Order: sequence, then structure tokens, then C-alpha cells
Amino acid sequence: MQWPAAITLCEVGPRDGFQMEPEFIRTDAKIEIIDALARTGVREIQATSFVHPRAIPQLRDAEEVLARIGRVPGVVYSALVPNERGAERAIAAKTDRVDIVVSVTDSHSWSNTNMSTARAMERARAIVRLAREAGADVAIGFATALGCPFEGFPPYERVAGLVAQAVEELGLRRVTIADTVGMASPALVSATMARLLARFPSTTFALHLHNTRGMGLANLLAGLDAGVTYYDTSIAGLGGCPYAPGATGNIATEDTVHMVEEMGIRTAIDLDALLAVARRVEEVVGHADSALLKAGPSSRLLGARVGPQEKVEAS
Ligand code: COA
Ligand code: ZN
Repeated sequence: MQWPAAITLCEVGPRDGFQMEPEFIRTDAKIEIIDALARTGVREIQATSFVHPRAIPQLRDAEEVLARIGRVPGVVYSALVPNERGAERAIAAKTDRVDIVVSVTDSHSWSNTNMSTARAMERARAIVRLAREAGADVAIGFATALGCPFEGFPPYERVAGLVAQAVEELGLRRVTIADTVGMASPALVSATMARLLARFPSTTFALHLHNTRGMGLANLLAGLDAGVTYYDTSIAGLGGCPYAPGATGNIATEDTVHMVEEMGIRTAIDLDALLAVARRVEEVVGHADSALLKAGPSSRLLGARVGPQEKVEAS
């Protein structure tokens, strides 16, 4: 199998991860974690979202977070936005890249953003205009593209039709295909990504994978096989969508870095530094979903003694 020599990860824990936390995470802690992530070698961080504070109260401090993080040169700080108001706020906060979100299925679109998919695409056009006028980069992500908790698996033609609109009509160069609630199997990821990459050869595709049903890293492998080189991952495996029942965490950044580096695929991320951040995240939110946090890297061996054990004395 021919895998890419290197991949780029977008750390989405501060957005996808934190948005699911019921207890408010202090702004200082958010900033500390984002700054620590930026020092691990991660090149892209989705730092927050500019949505209605009633929809996601946890991220109501988006402006303050972006104002107070210590921006590391070379790191792209993005934020998720659902509409023009979000884009204006993101631009005012000097977000490097505005990440538009549109749900492929109408049911999830209404549940998540109170509008149809078609309306969300009209707003995407307006957001692209605002971002370009402001000189900010802009990308789009399609939620529920690989499975919707209300409608099941959307037909490939619907996904490809939306991608075509984004690429050909809006001129977007980066498109994220999301498995919002971890429904996709590797077969679906392979088939979908192979067709999309063949049809849109100049587009940069990213995969956003949740591990809800334990298929996350298998899906990552399917993506690598298909030639996808950008992945969203979340520190400590946090994540989920409050408007998609049953959603749980993204694939953990540390599990992903460990797996691909073991395969000889470079990420430029320092795994030890990343694990230190993951432990801090676990401390802050009180939980984690990460194989590496439990087991450590496979390079870490236990001390062994060669030879017979001492006899156990009968007492
Ligand atoms: N940020 C802050 N305020 C916003 C906003 C934004 N991005 N978008 C709209 N508003 C405000 C409007 O200014 C308006 O305020 P007003 O009543 O004082 O005039 C009010 O919210 C209602 O605006 P409307 O356009 O009717 O929004 P809505 O109530 O239909 O909600 C969304 C639509 C998209 C704003 C809301 O559903 C949302 O934020 N969803 C995001 C959910 C999410 O983040 N999911 C997880 C990530 S995929
Ligand atoms: Zn997600």
C-alpha cells in the first residue's frame, strides 16, 4: 500500500471537544491549552466557534480566546462559523481561516443551525465574500456527509453536488468531509474519498472523523489509502455535536500521531509534548477517550528481568 509521506492535522479539540463539555471551562484554561497545543508542532488549530452563545454557551468567550492566545508563527488559527454574523465576529477577532459549516442533510441542518442545507449554502456564499474582502482564508466543512443520525447515509451524489457548488461556484479550495456521529465504515470512506479526489483533483480534502462506533482509526487508514492528507483530530479524544444525538469524540490527536508515525508517515508533531497536553486536558475536563493516555506509546517498554522468579515462601 502506498501511503502519503506526511499528513497535516487540524486540532479541533478547542472547538469540537470543548463544545460538548457541560461545565464551563475557564477562558484561562482554554487559552493555556491552545497555547500548549501550538507548541507541539501542530500546524492548524480550530480554536473556537462563532455561533450563537445560546446554541453553545461553552464557547461564548470566543472573542476573548482569540484575543489572548499567543499566536505561534506558522500556526493557522481557524474558527467555525454558521452564518454571516459568525463570519463578521471571526474576522473582527483576526481568525486566520473562517471554517464554514454546512450539513449535508436537511434534518441535521435544521437541528444544528435552524436552516435548510440550501439556505446554509446561500449563507456560505455571503461568508466567502466577507472573508475575501477582509483578506481571511476560508474553507468549508460538510457535516453528516458520511452519515446522519436522522436520515442515515446521504447518497454520494448529494455530497458531490454540494462539493461541486463549493468548489466550482464559491471557488473554495479546501473541503472537509465529516463523519459527524461516527457512522461511516472504512468501505464508505474509501469509496467516497476516491470518487471525490478523482472528480475534484485540485481540491484539498480533509476528513473529520468521530470514533463513536470504534471505526475512527480504521476510517483514517481508509482515508490514507485514498490519498487524503488532511485530518481533523481532537486532543484527548474529546468531541461531539450537541445537535446530533449520540455523538461522541473525534479520533484522538495523540492516537493518530502515534499510529501514523509508526507507519512512517510524518506529522511534525512532538508526541511527548502532545501527551503532556492531553493529560492536562483530562485534568481540566475530568475525562478523556484516548488509547495512548491509557497505554503510552508502543516504544515505551517495561523494565524486564530475564531469569526465574524468586520462590514464593510459604508462611
Ligand atoms: N453569533 C452571535 N449571535 C448570532 C449569531 C452568531 N453567529 N448568529 C445569529 N446571532 C443572533 C442574531 O444577531 C439575532 O440576534 P437579535 O435577536 O438580537 O437580533 C439572533 O441571534 C437570532 O438570529 P437568527 O439568524 O434568527 O438565528 P437563529 O436563532 O435561527 O440561530 C444559528 C441560527 C446558526 C445562529 C444557531 O442555530 C447557531 O449558532 N448554531 C450553531 C450550532 C453549533 O455550533 N453546532 C455545533 C457545531 S457543528
Ligand atoms: Zn465533529
